[in-house]
Amino acid sequence: MTTVLVPRLAIDGGAPVRTTLLPYGRQSVDASDVAAVSGMLTEALLTTGPHVAALEAGLAGVCGAPAAAVNNGTSALQAAYHALGLGEGDEIVVPPLTFAATAVSALWLGARPVFADLDPNTLTLSPEAAARACTDRTRFLVPVDFAGLPADYDALRAATGRPLCADAAHSLGATYRGAPAQAAVDAATLSFHPVKHITTGEGGAVVSRDPEVVARVKRLRHHNLLPDPDTGAWAYTLEAPGLNLRLPDINAALGVSQLRRLPAFLERRRALARRYTALLGAGPLAEHLELPPGGDESAWHLYVLRVRGAFAARRRWVFDALRAEGIGVQVHYAPLHQHPLFRRLGDHAPGAFPVAEDYGARCFTIPLFPDMTDADQDDVVSALHKVLGAEP
Ligand SMILES: Cc1ncc(COP(=O)(O)O)c(C=O)c1O
Repeated sequence: MTTVLVPRLAIDGGAPVRTTLLPYGRQSVDASDVAAVSGMLTEALLTTGPHVAALEAGLAGVCGAPAAAVNNGTSALQAAYHALGLGEGDEIVVPPLTFAATAVSALWLGARPVFADLDPNTLTLSPEAAARACTDRTRFLVPVDFAGLPADYDALRAATGRPLCADAAHSLGATYRGAPAQAAVDAATLSFHPVKHITTGEGGAVVSRDPEVVARVKRLRHHNLLPDPDTGAWAYTLEAPGLNLRLPDINAALGVSQLRRLPAFLERRRALARRYTALLGAGPLAEHLELPPGGDESAWHLYVLRVRGAFAARRRWVFDALRAEGIGVQVHYAPLHQHPLFRRLGDHAPGAFPVAEDYGARCFTIPLFPDMTDADQDDVVSALHKVLGAEP
């Protein structure tokens, strides 16, 4: 593993808490993963082989609904939007607190992402705000299970009457009302980027209880080729443009192995989150930090904090000081509507989405990944004490 050296002196001019950077997220690859990949490299099919189907079967078990694997989470969003019928002139409602792909994927289909603010208690799409954002062009909502916590799907449905396509890139393994979260929506998209719950290097999937949605994704990922048995066993017909969004079997084999480890990954993420909450939620740090929402129903992809009180307007300083202590903090996310692309596309004057804007100005993410040790976590907490114990 490459180590990143910490470039600057710590804030007090002395030694930093860590001399190499602890990242905010990182994959866990062990000997069983290596054996799974190296063992399949001499097989006949490196793509369109049996490992993709095995990964899909495993995902269906975890998510409670059939799955179609694709080559990344962005492809999953585009394929799901397409499969749900999104097209030219349509709208979807999305929260501003998400990765760019959630909204940009609609643009590629000629549709418009319309932003709606967050529920301050969950940091997910607000049902009331979503209802206000709906028009007669709204095809569906895209709730984002931010940091691993499922949005309130039932309340979103009740408030808007629209289908839900959850961006579940953060929430593999999360539950909603006691059952797998992805089974509670019309479709959900997953990402297997290395910082996510399982990795395939790059990879993603669409999950849906509707077999036609899954079938459409499978056709789209394979050029939209339709078999044509009347003409011959070799033949296919093309009725609509498709793409190559296939996940190679090399990656799928890694995914199958990682899925076996998912229960342990989730248990460790939840344990680390509970420990952070215990260590940061009391004592002097509590005055300066707002903790994230969610309990064991969350899949805890991220542990996100907000500075408050004397440090509320000093996120940049706190961020830089933590980096100088060797803590790989990150920001998830600067609200999407503030990017020039979306400012051009909508009337997003400052204050348009006050919950997301306030969150975006004060948030930062601290390290959380399954192979992180308690000693690593203690370093994060020590650095927070050091930085937030300084004069604001
Ligand atoms: C919320 C969210 N949606 C979509 C994506 C896109 O996934 P990928 O990087 O696999 O394309 C990500 C990944 O960073 C994400 O965090």
